[in-house]
Amino acid sequence: MKIAIAGATGVVGRHTVAAAEAAGHEVVPLSRSAGHDILDAAATATALDDVQALIDVTSVATIKGRESVEFFERGTRALLEAERLAGVPHHVALSIVGIDDIDDGYYAGKLAQERVLTAEHGAVDWTVLRATQFHEFAEQTLVRATIGPVTVAPKALVRTVAAREVGARLAELAAGAPAGRASDLAGPEQASLADLMRQMLQHDGARRRLVEARLPGAFGRGMASGSLAGEPDADRGSITFDAWLDSADHTRVV
Ligand SMILES: NC(=O)c1ccc[n+]([C@@H]2O[C@H](COP(=O)([O-])OP(=O)(O)OC[C@H]3O[C@@H](n4cnc5c(N)ncnc54)[C@H](OP(=O)(O)O)[C@@H]3O)[C@@H](O)[C@H]2O)c1
Repeated sequence: MKIAIAGATGVVGRHTVAAAEAAGHEVVPLSRSAGHDILDAAATATALDDVQALIDVTSVATIKGRESVEFFERGTRALLEAERLAGVPHHVALSIVGIDDIDDGYYAGKLAQERVLTAEHGAVDWTVLRATQFHEFAEQTLVRATIGPVTVAPKALVRTVAAREVGARLAELAAGAPAGRASDLAGPEQASLADLMRQMLQHDGARRRLVEARLPGAFGRGMASGSLAGEPDADRGSITFDAWLDSADHTRVV
């Protein structure tokens, strides 16, 4: 079948494209770098001829709640409008495990995305997969939270999962019937984000000072609360952080 992937060039988007293609689907990749801004519903609709499902793995790099809410609300509404115009029957979105009580910072946007989808989907049926932080989140945090020689690791208990396994699950869900809230997907092991980042620096031979700190406000409190690691009944990925570090999916820090 034909599957559109919004955010096709991103960390999980690249794996989602690969998994959908490996399963024999035709992929329509959507990203600004390929000339598609999802905020333009009419233009997006023209790319969705015969598309049977659209997977939304777009993101915005911010920890400001207002910016995150604006991006995910506008983006989800625009994609739903494009799907309505083009007759796409199934919208698949990726959200984050354990954020219900963290209506702040980046997570406020993810909760807003889920609310828009459930309340405004109209004739477009939906599936939402919540996944834990990716192993790649440790890399993303290293890049975003390094000031000079010091990296700040936000205090958080996590159960990271390989983006590769999340992409594969999204491709499977898109090929199936709309499922509403799908089973959560978590990683195989629980750890503090700071320990994972230290392990990565050591693995890559990077000399850098890493300081663990609780981020301010409700966002920081939520990250530190342990809820991001999810519940014991979540489905589990099988690729460990160690195995991922040794794989081609990991971009070395040095
Ligand atoms: N990172 C994690 O640990 C994690 C865990 C669970 C769930 N998630 C969710 O997974 C999703 C993807 O995260 P990620 O880390 O893979 O993101 P990412 O690497 O930052 O990639 C974001 C993608 O969105 C595209 N994009 C952004 N704005 C766009 C626009 N206006 N129009 C079209 N494309 C646009 C980007 O391409 P261009 O810049 O070329 O437009 C890129 O392909 C997010 O919704 C996130 O909340 C992430």
